[in-house]
Amino acid sequence: MSEHTPKSGSVLTGDGFSDSGGTNVVVKIVDLVKNYYLGSVVVPALRGVSLEIKEGEFLAIMGASGSGKSTLLNLLGCLDRPTSGQYYLGGRDVSKLDDDELSEIRGRYIGFVFQSYNLIPQLTAEENMEVPLYYQGRITPESKKRVRELARLVGLEQWLHHKPTQLSGGQQQRVAIARALVNDPYIILADEPTGNLDTKTSYEIMKLIVQLNDMGKTIIMVTHEPDIAAYAKRIVMMRDGKILSDTINENRTIPRDEQEPLPVGQN
Ligand SMILES: Nc1ncnc2c1ncn2[C@@H]1O[C@H](COP(=O)(O)OP(=O)(O)OP(=O)(O)O)[C@@H](O)[C@H]1O
Ligand SMILES: [Mg+2]
Repeated sequence: MSEHTPKSGSVLTGDGFSDSGGTNVVVKIVDLVKNYYLGSVVVPALRGVSLEIKEGEFLAIMGASGSGKSTLLNLLGCLDRPTSGQYYLGGRDVSKLDDDELSEIRGRYIGFVFQSYNLIPQLTAEENMEVPLYYQGRITPESKKRVRELARLVGLEQWLHHKPTQLSGGQQQRVAIARALVNDPYIILADEPTGNLDTKTSYEIMKLIVQLNDMGKTIIMVTHEPDIAAYAKRIVMMRDGKILSDTINENRTIPRDEQEPLPVGQN
């Protein structure tokens, strides 16, 4: 994927399509099927899912427990391979790559934000942000500068030398978001990013995620909570391993500046 040539001069440099007009298809999945095999029992987790996501979109994926949301996110994140169907990431078919190739794609082109932050407890905030670079041997004076710029972006420049246990949940999630951005990925995948946070902190994290999207990052977020999905531009509802509906969110929640959030359910 040598065509991924981030532009310089900005912390967030777009999704790697250097001559983009802003309408590039960054994710295309076609008839994706995923079966899990439990002994002789086949569990059909995804039963033919097709989706096209353009650069700069912000999707919320919703649906009942067991509808296939995490399975879909795992496939989009190259954490697993589909049973059948195609997945094009940045134009390249990644559905049949081997484990090493998938892990390389994951490290370079996908940013992950998890409900439980998944930080390494022994490392400082700064070192956690550098983890994706570390695995690729890409920590350089230039990357150090970028990490500090990202820390400023997520509001953590004072906390770079703290360990995760010395940070609040919201601060830990900010570290995770900076870590997800460090490679300038094609897509940011977030699985219940506010699931462990209180209402006020959830609002602050959603404000940051909206800000990243406003800066051009493509975001795909799984959530159970309608109030959190309300920040997205597009809402995909899943049921029984299929897409039930895929709609533009006409009634988007826009974070307000310098204002206390309303309690969940009233914004
Ligand atoms: N590793 C696995 N082995 C076997 N079956 C699995 C596995 N992972 C998921 N499943 C099954 O696949 C289906 C979809 O699961 P998935 O985790 O994608 O749902 P989900 O929408 O993320 O649910 P939740 O909202 O509870 O997180 C379910 O029937 C689940 O039991
Ligand atoms: Mg899930």
